[in-house]
Amino acid sequence: MAETETKAFVCGHPIAHSRSPKIHGFWLKANGLAGTYTAIDVAPEKFGDFLTGLAAQGFAGGNVTIPHKEAAFRLVDRRDEAAEAIGAVNTVWFEDGQLWGGNTDAYGFAENLDENAPSWDQTDAALVLGAGGAARAIVHALKLRGIRNIRIVNRTVARAQELADSFAAGVSAHPLAAASEFLPETGLLINTTSLGMHGNEELPVDPSALPDSAVVTDIVYVPLETPLLAAAKARGLKTVDGLGMLLHQAAPGFEHWFGIRPAVTAELRDLVVADLGAAR
Ligand code: ATR
Repeated sequence: MAETETKAFVCGHPIAHSRSPKIHGFWLKANGLAGTYTAIDVAPEKFGDFLTGLAAQGFAGGNVTIPHKEAAFRLVDRRDEAAEAIGAVNTVWFEDGQLWGGNTDAYGFAENLDENAPSWDQTDAALVLGAGGAARAIVHALKLRGIRNIRIVNRTVARAQELADSFAAGVSAHPLAAASEFLPETGLLINTTSLGMHGNEELPVDPSALPDSAVVTDIVYVPLETPLLAAAKARGLKTVDGLGMLLHQAAPGFEHWFGIRPAVTAELRDLVVADLGAAR
């Protein structure tokens, strides 16, 4: 019966380009579930009311994306450890009558690398390009895996410094131009900026100075092979694209709402890749 279907959502502003409905729609079908997952455009001034009204609207929970992640962090009843560490919430669900907020970005980042470059965390030194919300989740993931020396380089150094200061020892902040001096001693290079995305400038970082064993990853997934990843591949380095992070970060939410841990499969990836190609 329609009224017993489990309902979930993704809300943001704008939301039209979200791939999340494709991902969760695939999993609902693959698992033979009759639930729904819909994209909802919620303006910032309406977000508080939207979140307060979730239960009345029959939602089991959903995803929260730009620009609502920090507001969701403030408004939920309880937060998981990752949300506390990152200061932002991208997944909400009900548990014992309370609205919980979690953050699955660090998990998605680590799962993607575990799947595609299993020894990625066997390095002492990581270099993070960028200091926005995504960088915060990634630095959290790097700390969890025990990477001892995490350098953040950013156009706005103060922002990198603020991010570094919010973590314990082992995280330092530098200007973007300092990247080249760190590259020879970097085992893991991560781009968290929007540079390299279709229509944007390229990153001013040349991965050819990295050691042979380095892993290079980008959170940008349009295009799947960013200029940074192409240059790293040409240099013979292990590269991991950003689509896997998007797919893996979605799995814990699906399990919260629909009760089944879904699998990130090649079929799902192909479906989203086809969708990205069609949207260009
Ligand atoms: P997100 O939450 O997705 O990480 P964000 O908070 O807007 O997005 O962060 C974007 C990152 O890309 C920042 O590190 C930003 O640098 P600043 O902090 O100096 O703004 C970086 N970025 C965006 N455009 C850039 C550009 N043209 N040159 C260098 N860095 C850029």
